[in-house]
Order: sequence, then structure tokens, then C-alpha cells
Amino acid sequence: MTETTAAPTIGAQGGEKPPEETEQERRERVRAILEQNKPDECRVVAMCNQKGGVGKTTTTINLGGSLAEHGRRVLLLDGDPQTNLTDAFRIKPPGPNDLTQAQVVIDALDPIPLIRETKVPGIFVLPASLDMAGLSSDLRDTGTGLTLYRTMIDKLREFFDDILVDQRPALDLDTDSQLAGTDAAIIMTDVDEWAMKGLTRQLAQHKKVMARVQRDDYDVLGLVIGRVQKPMGNFDAEVYKLLQNHPRVRCLGEVPIRAADLKEARNKGLPVTHYNKTARSDTAGFFRGIASNAGLVKAA
Ligand SMILES: Nc1ncnc2c1ncn2[C@@H]1O[C@H](COP(=O)(O)OP(=O)(O)OP(=O)(O)O)[C@@H](O)[C@H]1O
Ligand SMILES: [Mg+2]
Repeated sequence: MTETTAAPTIGAQGGEKPPEETEQERRERVRAILEQNKPDECRVVAMCNQKGGVGKTTTTINLGGSLAEHGRRVLLLDGDPQTNLTDAFRIKPPGPNDLTQAQVVIDALDPIPLIRETKVPGIFVLPASLDMAGLSSDLRDTGTGLTLYRTMIDKLREFFDDILVDQRPALDLDTDSQLAGTDAAIIMTDVDEWAMKGLTRQLAQHKKVMARVQRDDYDVLGLVIGRVQKPMGNFDAEVYKLLQNHPRVRCLGEVPIRAADLKEARNKGLPVTHYNKTARSDTAGFFRGIASNAGLVKAA
């Protein structure tokens, strides 16, 4: 695998990997980095909602940036065959001749060879790939699919302070298996009646999955309202108020519509927390707030 540009990189610096490095050397180098300064404990958080396009991937990337700013070693696990998170860090998704996340999960292989560095110190990515589109049925065929992500995630825990799992918009066996491997969840929504419905379904699904794996220690850290546009009409304002004062899940914060900042940063393979630090942008502040409200870092 090589660093790549799945989409055009405007003004990109290029990958940090020396071109002569073999895949084997890359794996050994990354493993050696991960073996140093191992953290005491790891927290694994699912970033979820069955509803699509609510900002799960955007929040995963930028929450990851906020955690890395605190010196935490973070793994962003791309759980979605759309490979949006993988692409955002300019990483080429594994192809048919490469080791893939789907293979590692199904065959309980060592996941460390999958892990890629990013330009951001402290942020690593476990890439997704297209073959994950068939993962739900592959997991079903094993008969033990609900436990298989946990097996992989448990092998990763010793190396990271935080693992954020960017889920695809679905309630299926792959997303259930990912949930069963996590300690907690952040549910993304947008200001939309359907997102409210997605939130309720998500909570019910967590309950169902945890009952099946006999766990009563699962923590829903809260909800994040993405793509907030103000001013908003009366109806949206009502939905927004309901989300902010949700009876079952506390609101950790919101992310306003900030396409320029977020997309420019993404185009450079960076979270907004690590992009153009001198610009007078407040966008990163929203993600920092979410990280501290979720209790993932201490407030500044
Ligand atoms: N705060 C924001 N301001 C402007 N654009 C945003 C914002 N958040 C997300 N977007 C854009 O909205 C689209 C959907 O966001 P994103 O991919 O993060 O959602 P998602 O929930 O991960 O989607 P999916 O369900 O397909 O995985 C993307 O094009 C993203 O760039
Ligand atoms: Mg996504």
C-alpha cells in the first residue's frame, strides 16, 4: 500500500513515508512506534447513528484531533466500507491483494499490520476497504459474528489511549459487532425529525446488543448535534430544543455548518484542530468542547 490521494489534494505536501520503504518495513516501523510509551488504559467509543450524513465521520476525525492535542494516542477505526475516514487522511484503502480489516475481523488475525500513521502526531488510522460491504453476511456465516470485532479491538487496546470507531449508517451485524467491542457511544444527530428517530432506534439497539453479549456496563456518553444552521425556522428550533434537552441522552455539544474550514482541513489530510492554527476560526473549539463534555479529556 502507498499513501495516496483518493480525491485531488489541493496543495498537498505528500505522504511522510520514504518511497523506498517496503510494506514489511512500514509495518515493523509502525509496530515499533506503538510499542513505545504504551498507555495505562484505553477507552473505545462508537460514533454512531443509523441515519446517514449526520456528521459521524467529520466528528470522529475532529474529535480525534482534539484528543491528540492533549497528547493522547488515538486510533481512528474506519468501520465503514465507504472509506470516508480513510480517504480523509489520504490513505489508500487496502485492495484485493492487501490484508484488510474484514479479513482480520473474520479470521481473528493480528490487526497491527493494518494500522497507518497520519500526518498528525498521535493519530493513527485503521483503514476500511470495499470488501467490508459484505462483512455483515460474512459475520453471520461465522455464527459468532457479534463477538468478532471485540476480539480485534481487544488486541488494539494496549497501544492506544482512545479508539474512536466511525460506524456506517446501519443497524446490522457489522455495526452490532463493532458496538459490542466498544465501551461507550457518542450518537451523532442533525436537526431533523428523522435524526431523532435514528437516536431512539440507536439507543434501543445498544440495549439489544448489550443484552445479547451480557454486558450492563455500556455508557452512552451523549449526543452531538451536527451541521447546525442558525437562524433556523420554528419547526427546526423545536427539534433542536428537544435534542438539547433530550430526556435520555445528554447533549455534549453541536457543530455548526462550517464547510470551508472542515473541508479545507480534510483536503490536507488534517483535523481542523491541526489546520491553519493562526486563522481566526472557531470551528476547532466546538470539537474541543465535545471532547471535554464527553469526559474524554479534562477541560482546558
Ligand atoms: N459541520 C459541518 N459543516 C459543513 N459540512 C459538514 C459538517 N459536518 C459534515 N459536513 C459534510 O456533510 C457531509 C456528511 O458528513 P459526514 O460524512 O461526516 O456524515 P456521516 O454521518 O459520517 O455520513 P455517513 O452516514 O454517510 O457515514 C459530508 O460531505 C461532510 O463534509
Ligand atoms: Mg461517515
